[in-house]
Amino acid sequence: PAACDLQGLWRNELGSNMTLLALDMDGTFSGSYHTAVAATDKQILVSPLQGALQPPGTKGQQPTFGFTVQWQFADSTTVFVGQCFVDRRGKEVLETAWLLREGVPSRRDVWKATRVGTSVFTRVK
Ligand code: BTN
Repeated sequence: PAACDLQGLWRNELGSNMTLLALDMDGTFSGSYHTAVAATDKQILVSPLQGALQPPGTKGQQPTFGFTVQWQFADSTTVFVGQCFVDRRGKEVLETAWLLREGVPSRRDVWKATRVGTSVFTRVK
């Protein structure tokens, strides 16, 4: 199948929505992330993201990518890495893994500062 197009509106299993904008010439991209959940009770704000997509591999594989979300309502940062897949029916999915680093007051608390997970995004638009 053809390489999938990252540009558009995507939703994950938590109900979070993200909009990825068109790729720049160098494979970098930006967008926005509207998370459905948060680690704190603070009011959720739509937050910017910056990423990079690798060119399609030599083996005809789908490309990998990564992006960073700079949360506008928390001191934390999340990075996502993933790969886009297209099934035989042309349905696109983004299979990702993420790390969420929360701000902690001191080095003593670093042990609990990182969360990890996986997430699958499907195209909404
Ligand atoms: C925070 O609470 O510190 C900021 C919001 C974090 C939301 C996380 S990022 C990984 C997971 N996937 C989502 O869509 N939302 C949560």
